[in-house]
Amino acid sequence: METFVCASANPDKVAEIAALLNGFVELLPRPAHLPEVVEDATSLRGNARLKAAAICAATGLAAISDDTGLEVDALGGEPGVHTARFAGEGCSYADNRAKMLSVLRDVPMVQRAARFKTVAMVMWPDGRELAVEGVCEGSIAMSEQGVRGFGYDSIFVPVDGDGGTFSQMSEAAKNDISHRGRAFRALVAALANGLPTT
Ligand code: IMP
Repeated sequence: METFVCASANPDKVAEIAALLNGFVELLPRPAHLPEVVEDATSLRGNARLKAAAICAATGLAAISDDTGLEVDALGGEPGVHTARFAGEGCSYADNRAKMLSVLRDVPMVQRAARFKTVAMVMWPDGRELAVEGVCEGSIAMSEQGVRGFGYDSIFVPVDGDGGTFSQMSEAAKNDISHRGRAFRALVAALANGLPTT
């Protein structure tokens, strides 16, 4: 089994990623002393690359990274790469959800389509990289529903679910259909097909 360092330090995400990769790869935690990477690329793939490259350079080991964006049609695809800081620098998950509900206050349910996109990437110390994408179509709820999860979970209703938000689903049910679940399963499949040469 190949060993990778996880580029994410976010415990919410690391738990999901570890569950998704369990049995397929050995995942080492991100070294605690490493400074946070400034995610200022203009694409999800660019940000995933920044994070993976920093871990590769610091550890000399292959790294697994990911970057996620929420695209809301009524907002012209925003917040996209700005999803983590939608409500401003240093904002909380709750601030982001409150801002999303506020800006969509007058938007009817039929116009609240949105999707989460995740780019999952492996980068090796010799510069090879492998990137895949996972998408979860859905919509933004009119109000918060449920308590589980993190980020926008309580206001995102996936199309492939049972009509509830991610927060109303078990972790396993969310992983089955989520952007991150799809991206990391695609990554495992791509790794099983052999390592890239570029
Ligand atoms: P990241 O690139 O994975 O850190 O994701 C950027 C932001 O998207 C996070 O700060 C969360 O607000 C949000 N996000 C990512 N994944 C999820 C998810 O599975 N559910 C809800 N929100 C998420």
